[in-house]
Amino acid sequence: MEEKEFKMEDMVNFCKTYGYIFQGSDIYGGLANTWDYGPLGSRLKNNLKDAWRKRFIQERPNAYELDADILMHPRVWEASGHVDSFADPLTDCRHCKTRYRADNLVNDFTNSSMGDKMTNEELLDYIKTNNIPCPKCGKCDFTDIRQFKLMFETYRGVTKDNKSVVYLRPENAQGEYVNFLNVQRSMRAKIPFSIGQIGKAFRNEITPGNFIFRTIEFEQMEYQTFCKKGDDLKFYEYFKDYGKKFFMDLGLPEEKLRFHDHEKLAFYAAAACDIEYKFPFGWGEINGTHDRTDYDLTRHEEYSGVPQKYLDPETNEKYIPYIVESTYGVGRTVLALLCEAYHKETLENGEEREVLKLSPYLAPIKVAVLPLIKKNHSEKAMEIYNMLSKYFMTSYDESGTIGKRYRRADACGTPYCITIDDDTLNNNTVTIRNRDTMEQETLKVDEVIKFVEDRIKF
Ligand code: GAP
Repeated sequence: MEEKEFKMEDMVNFCKTYGYIFQGSDIYGGLANTWDYGPLGSRLKNNLKDAWRKRFIQERPNAYELDADILMHPRVWEASGHVDSFADPLTDCRHCKTRYRADNLVNDFTNSSMGDKMTNEELLDYIKTNNIPCPKCGKCDFTDIRQFKLMFETYRGVTKDNKSVVYLRPENAQGEYVNFLNVQRSMRAKIPFSIGQIGKAFRNEITPGNFIFRTIEFEQMEYQTFCKKGDDLKFYEYFKDYGKKFFMDLGLPEEKLRFHDHEKLAFYAAAACDIEYKFPFGWGEINGTHDRTDYDLTRHEEYSGVPQKYLDPETNEKYIPYIVESTYGVGRTVLALLCEAYHKETLENGEEREVLKLSPYLAPIKVAVLPLIKKNHSEKAMEIYNMLSKYFMTSYDESGTIGKRYRRADACGTPYCITIDDDTLNNNTVTIRNRDTMEQETLKVDEVIKFVEDRIKF
């Protein structure tokens, strides 16, 4: 079996054809960096979120889920530092008018992350001294650097003034921080404990996005562990490894995952690391793990005036906990899973097939029910479909040749196809075909549920 390489455009087209992901506002020409998840994409996303819930909330001790509102008191974003400093350094090419992040220009030119550490003046100076060309037109004639705010602002109520401003949250984390004591008290939680949340975040990203890698609206699976000072680095190391293992369990191979330890840390952070996946366009961050010390809760205590200290019931010690955060991008993980699972194969008979080798747990549809001959077998097939769909997402397909129906199920990532034929009518047996090996075996109809259930566990 021969394998073919693919490009990101192939992936975009594939996702559109099979109902995974569509361009946002497509019929209006699209809105840059927005994408809509179709019937299969939204199932995949939900299965990923359920996997995260299982590993991070269900299977970990003292872990609690939260569902905080997107809109929060504007002081939250002053306390967090976002109002003052959540911005990108932008510059425009005067010649072709293309807009760039100045730090990216330097990083790409030097193939390093040195741009991350520079001030705006240093960035501009470096660009000019080294004559860094515009990647589009080749000229080196850039405007001064401006700080471009990434938070979306809107207004509540009827007046549009400073008092009514609210922000679309640029991260989930602050919802977990401001509810730290609510969760701790209501759950009678003892430190160390964790609060996790899956939710939308918004950033006014203007740089090109590589499909769903960088979008202006995206989902995060955030996990904050509240611990005692001194235990923070232990949790930090633990969650780096736990995160990598989580990605591997989802089906991303170890050789395409790497840690990227940050050299430049925020002034309050004790350690920071990304987990990167090797996308077809290069390495990209899919998770960020940070030791945030006691910075966030100290700031919220200061800005809200409400003490954020934890009282240790055993030692009577009162302290502001340290926070170790580990954040997963939902869209970026979906993209990594799709890139990893997608294969274009030439079969021995010369036919081509596109196949999505997603882990059966993640696959949007678990079983496809296919009557061999519509007029003879569809009634029985529908009966089996009705039985299976009570247990898992099942599809029913009676149109076209059986080969074409297998191809479609392969492309949708459906791990099992069940063919209903005369043997089903006579002996109550079905043929079950494995998506990856294309091998078939015969099962009794009443064995199918267990067969599939045993293979879709996470
Ligand atoms: N609370 C910490 C935080 O938000 P971050 O590194 O800015 O940290 C965490 O973001 C994760 O969110 C990233 O690893 C990435 O997976 C995802 N993410 C961030 N910006 C994104 C964007 N514009 N589009 C899609 N995913 C994004």
